[in-house]
Amino acid sequence: MSTESKHNSIEIIQPDDMHVHFRDGDVLKDVVPHTAAQFAKCLVMPNLKSPVVNSELAIAYYERIKQAVPNNLKDKFEPFLTLYLTDKTNSDEVKKALDTQIIKGFKLYPAGATTLSENGVTNIKNCYAVIEQMQKYNAVLLVHGEVTDHHVDIFDREAKFIDDVLIPLRKDFPELKISFEHITTKQAADYVLSENSQYLGASITPQHLLYNRNHMLAGGIKPHYYCLPILKRSLHQQALLKAAISGSDRFYVGTDSAPHAKYLKENSCGCAGCYSALHAVELYTTAFEAENALDKLEGFMSIYGSKFYELPINTHKIKLIKQNWQVPNVLNFGNQELVPLAAGETMTWKLENSFL
Ligand code: DOR
Ligand code: ZN
Repeated sequence: MSTESKHNSIEIIQPDDMHVHFRDGDVLKDVVPHTAAQFAKCLVMPNLKSPVVNSELAIAYYERIKQAVPNNLKDKFEPFLTLYLTDKTNSDEVKKALDTQIIKGFKLYPAGATTLSENGVTNIKNCYAVIEQMQKYNAVLLVHGEVTDHHVDIFDREAKFIDDVLIPLRKDFPELKISFEHITTKQAADYVLSENSQYLGASITPQHLLYNRNHMLAGGIKPHYYCLPILKRSLHQQALLKAAISGSDRFYVGTDSAPHAKYLKENSCGCAGCYSALHAVELYTTAFEAENALDKLEGFMSIYGSKFYELPINTHKIKLIKQNWQVPNVLNFGNQELVPLAAGETMTWKLENSFL
């Protein structure tokens, strides 16, 4: 990384987003260009209305995503896919999926944990035959780490998942590569750090670095901060920041950018998900700058994710410029509107050649 005096600009290797939601159909043309303008590679989540449960569906989805990439970015941006793990996933699917070279892993949604997780896994033991193959062939298991028991407080669901599911799973499959997705707690950050294993990484979103539950709940409910796992109290935000800027290569970018139409967020039963694809690099940079840790930005943003997924590290560089600009209040989303994270706020970093 190179920085000019007083950080008026920063140059880093182009980042990757190891966790993004694009949805499907008409809206692809509205969201894919944002991610493609920011990142060189991304890992796309499979929780579509009709989930991406096998390699054929993934390849067809990949083609639709590629079509939505603007022409000038077509050879600069590469999406990778994940398959949606279900109780019924066939163990033959693992090798088949990896042979495509496009699919990098399987996403574990505990059934009922989050948006479009109804077809998810009811008991991890139902998937042991598939997981055995994943360990054998080096596929990554991406986990949405929350228990779904309604009696467990929503703020405790991640910590409980570590004890009830993750620790036993890693004991049974010690060489299974697991990416603990969008971690939100001190317990998760501490667990990943203390395990210090090449088989365990964790992605962190921009919202969990920049905000805590006060941003969402104090002075009125602000639905655009609502995502799952939910924002926690400040001590967890601080622990995540510490992990992200630690220089540990176990932590990397996963924006969890998850578009939902404005009216479905501003609703008596609002959907979970923050949309950050437009300005994710700027958001992370803001969080690192506030910690005086811009020297740790490149590793977290551009190296450790690729390293974990055993993908080539990008060669192209990007430049961020110290420049004020305002996040739009709404974006296009098919025939609906989409409210980005930090809508209307002033950002002080701008990606050169950004989408806007
Ligand atoms: O907030 C979230 N939104 N968390 C998830 O796990 C899923 C995502 C979505 O797909 O909307
Ligand atoms: Zn997600």
